[in-house]
Amino acid sequence: MTAAPDFDTTAAKLRQQLADHLTAGGRLRSPGWRTAVEAVPRHEFVSRFYRETDAPGLTTWTPVTPELVGTEEWLRQAYADDTLITQFDGQEIDWDDPKPISNAHPTSSSTLPSLVVRMLEELQVHDGMNVMEIGTGTGYSTALMCHRLGAARITSIETDHDVAGRARAALSRCGFASRLVVGDGLAGHAEGAPYDRTIATCGVRHVPYAWVQQARPGGLILTTLRGWMRSLGLIRLTVGHDGRAEGRFLTEDPSFMIARQQDAPDSLGTIPAPDEGTARETPHGPGLLTGSGSGFLAQLAMPGARFFSLPGSNGTAHTYVLDSANGGAFAVLTPTEGGGWSVRQGGRSRVRLWDEYEAALALWGEAGFPAPTDFGVTVAPEQQSVWLGSPGGPSWRLPA
Ligand SMILES: C[S@@+](CC[C@H](N)C(=O)[O-])C[C@H]1O[C@@H](n2cnc3c(N)ncnc32)[C@H](O)[C@@H]1O
Repeated sequence: MTAAPDFDTTAAKLRQQLADHLTAGGRLRSPGWRTAVEAVPRHEFVSRFYRETDAPGLTTWTPVTPELVGTEEWLRQAYADDTLITQFDGQEIDWDDPKPISNAHPTSSSTLPSLVVRMLEELQVHDGMNVMEIGTGTGYSTALMCHRLGAARITSIETDHDVAGRARAALSRCGFASRLVVGDGLAGHAEGAPYDRTIATCGVRHVPYAWVQQARPGGLILTTLRGWMRSLGLIRLTVGHDGRAEGRFLTEDPSFMIARQQDAPDSLGTIPAPDEGTARETPHGPGLLTGSGSGFLAQLAMPGARFFSLPGSNGTAHTYVLDSANGGAFAVLTPTEGGGWSVRQGGRSRVRLWDEYEAALALWGEAGFPAPTDFGVTVAPEQQSVWLGSPGGPSWRLPA
């Protein structure tokens, strides 16, 4: 990027303001990360991007480049505490004629800085540590780590060739020669192991066991776990000497874009015929699927499911919960005339989705409706589970 003296001064001032904002919000806490935020030019990593438009209705993203909005405005937006989208649907953007985009699925971005630094603080790094990052994206978070620990300590993996190419160029412009690997980060990168810290900025359905194998005993793995219905939250696992890793959820959010290799199949599954399955009444309606704690339990109890609502023949909404992988297991929820709910369940497997969910809700209720931060995760070579309270407590298998 060509840099006039006043451009550099403005950019430095914007970085300072961003650092002040992140500190005031309690996200930026340690001097090492503050110095990195003040030093790393985010604008080098987001020379062109899309930003979500604040309008009701369909989510729409608007292109932002120096040519479209002017250099000053582009620079201001590059330092906003906002997620800046740089790719949709795994396709490169036509920057010769960028148009507003809707009905698309963001697949790469520079994550909002408050979340980036919050995760970096949670990573608990110390000088001399080796870090593996999964999901380089624009390379901005990689650059912050290079600044804090030295580029030679950082291995970053990006699955998308074009995205990785842009990150490599931006990192190089900033003088950071970290190891940037193009490939599936779910396999880690054995050549750079052992790692003291592993951080993923894409969500995963389970923790890839390679990350545990490539960690130093006592090392930490920080990642968001998610399913196809929602995010479970951010977990920090400590790797033991016994090949296991264990830790608790730190927060219920954030929700990162899922690792591409674990994305949901395009098809939601087959809608069951009206006479399929067995019906009964249930006290639990579909509203629970989107509740804070109850939604978390839904994701745990029905790890392969997704849901949607459709009007039935008499106009009442039916909510379909479908698990296409699990023998086409289904639960269909319909309001009853008495103001309650009926559920019709079936599928080729023995799994009955709503029974599983109600059992999880019952355990949760008996425990006093604990928050997601009262849950933890154990990763072992043979299986992975989320438990309530302590590793011996009630548990749910992750779809490993
Ligand atoms: C939210 S963006 C990363 C943000 C980035 N750390 C930053 O601060 O700019 C998530 C990235 O993860 C990448 N990704 C998805 N699945 C991956 C995988 N299996 N291995 C490596 N990268 C992956 C996506 O292509 C995307 O660029």
